[in-house]
Amino acid sequence: MAASVLVIGGGGREHALAWKLAQSTKVSKIYVAPGNGGTEQIATNVPIGFTDVDGLLKFAKENKIDLTVIGQEAASEAGVVNAFQDAGLRIFGPDKAAVQIEASKVFSKDLMNEKRVPTASYKTFTSTKAALEYLRNCSFPQVIKASGLAEGKGVVIAEALPEAEKAIDDIMVKKVFKDAGNSVVIEEFLKGQEVSVHALCDGKNAVLFPTSQDHKQVFDGGKGPNTGGMGVVAPLPWVTDSNLKFIENQVVKPTLEGLKQKNAPFTGCLYPGLMIDGADIKVLEFNARFGDPEAEVYMRLLKSDLYEILISCTEGHLNPAEVKWHPGA
Ligand code: AMP
Ligand code: GLY
Repeated sequence: MAASVLVIGGGGREHALAWKLAQSTKVSKIYVAPGNGGTEQIATNVPIGFTDVDGLLKFAKENKIDLTVIGQEAASEAGVVNAFQDAGLRIFGPDKAAVQIEASKVFSKDLMNEKRVPTASYKTFTSTKAALEYLRNCSFPQVIKASGLAEGKGVVIAEALPEAEKAIDDIMVKKVFKDAGNSVVIEEFLKGQEVSVHALCDGKNAVLFPTSQDHKQVFDGGKGPNTGGMGVVAPLPWVTDSNLKFIENQVVKPTLEGLKQKNAPFTGCLYPGLMIDGADIKVLEFNARFGDPEAEVYMRLLKSDLYEILISCTEGHLNPAEVKWHPGA
């Protein structure tokens, strides 16, 4: 078999996914839409935007794509997975219903609450007035989040009321994140070490990757404003086996179960961002995709054939024994 694969997205993450897929003996051709300078060297870039559902579908049909891999979550939210599945095409990534776990923080917090997944205590608001009234009676810091997708920029850690009021004004009144700010989540500030977890899911089962840590601040020495991530370390030697068991049983499993109960079974990479403070583990957020730059590091560590693993996920029979890692870091 000589498979053609289409990767959707244009970041370092998609370069890493394409790089790993290119090592599969089963893959003969890789396209990346829209791709970047890195993917150009190892695959064929196609100038189709990642939310252009019709354009992507037409391309996949015309080029007889055997597997499409979603890198960018916005593609899932735009309905790419639903359209491909309706057309009988194989695609790895969550559909519109399942991507809600990332695309709506209100949905995700409520699901965690229902399934008793540990997370920061929170309130949700759709009214500016009610949000401000609540904040005026809070102790600080408080964390204010636009509910929708905001490319990781929709979170403000407010040390005091004026900052919180400005955040509400930006998100809900000025609409700097457009409709992503129609609702906000205001939550308790958590301290500790942030950890990234990736769980490959086939709709029912999950296989956890080694844990990793994303370093977000722009300058050396942990200084400067947060970015989407400047670098990642994996695996984390200080995360214990009992921490991992807890993450699998109290975070990943109940979340997948909750999504299934809401008719939103999850196929793809479920990526909870966690705060670990000693024995205390809480979810900061869920992402419905590989992290960037986490994917760059994980693709170097992964020993198994990524193409075969992703095919198993799309067919609903992912086997943990299939996912093997190189030793080292
Ligand atoms: P999110 O998009 O929800 O992951 O938030 C982006 C970043 O904001 C996280 O990676 C954390 O660094 C920080 N953050 C989010 N929620 C909290 C919280 N409840 N307490 C402390 N920091 C947080
Ligand atoms: N590295 C953080 C993210 O992918 O959201």
